[in-house]
Amino acid sequence: MSVPDFIEARRSIRAFRAEPVDRDALDALVEAACIAPAPHHSRPWRFVVIDTDAGKAALSLGMGARWRADLTNDGVTPERVEELIASSHAKITGAPALVLACLTWDGLDRYPDETRQRAEWGMALLSLGAAVENLMLTAANAGLASCWVAAPIFCPEAARDALELPNEWLPHALVLVGHPEASYVPRVRPPVPLETLRVNK
Ligand SMILES: Cc1cc2nc3c(=O)[nH]c(=O)nc-3n(C[C@H](O)[C@H](O)[C@H](O)COP(=O)(O)O)c2cc1C
Repeated sequence: MSVPDFIEARRSIRAFRAEPVDRDALDALVEAACIAPAPHHSRPWRFVVIDTDAGKAALSLGMGARWRADLTNDGVTPERVEELIASSHAKITGAPALVLACLTWDGLDRYPDETRQRAEWGMALLSLGAAVENLMLTAANAGLASCWVAAPIFCPEAARDALELPNEWLPHALVLVGHPEASYVPRVRPPVPLETLRVNK
């Protein structure tokens, strides 16, 4: 049994040509995301498609302010902090389009105790990962480049407020999307060592 070619063909691509991505193509990615498996027929996701300079800058600056505070708190030197923030800003604002994947409690169960409440949110988060994978596979299939960026999961409220999203939309994943720069070489993908990653019982 081998991994289907279209799954293997998806790579994180971090360099894009300048041309914009068609809005219909972006909508097709969101549609693919929205047929991912989700707990009890919920769709606890909301997607924000951002392809304006103002939107990209607002998101990057909002998350950057939070990150700057965290790094400073960690004792990172001001020079290094600014270097990291500038590099992240260039990455986010340099992508032709962004898809910001948010979680909501819409359709999820509520529990009186924290353990089950956390598990419910965890299920939603797992399904968001499945949705994002659908999105990126569909992008690859359409000849588009994509790369998942972790930033919002560290500062969901800052990302939400930067884009003036509804209070209950909590951003958890950011995907850069664009037409791939032909010269970009994806990082080497290590082989899958089944003997250490799986056991048979
Ligand atoms: C939850 C998550 C967060 C990630 N965050 C980042 C990120 O912040 N920056 C980045 O360049 N790549 C990020 N990646 C992409 C991974 O680095 C990439 O998927 C991994 O190296 C495997 O490479 P491949 O996607 O080409 O197979 C992230 C991936 C996941 C699943």
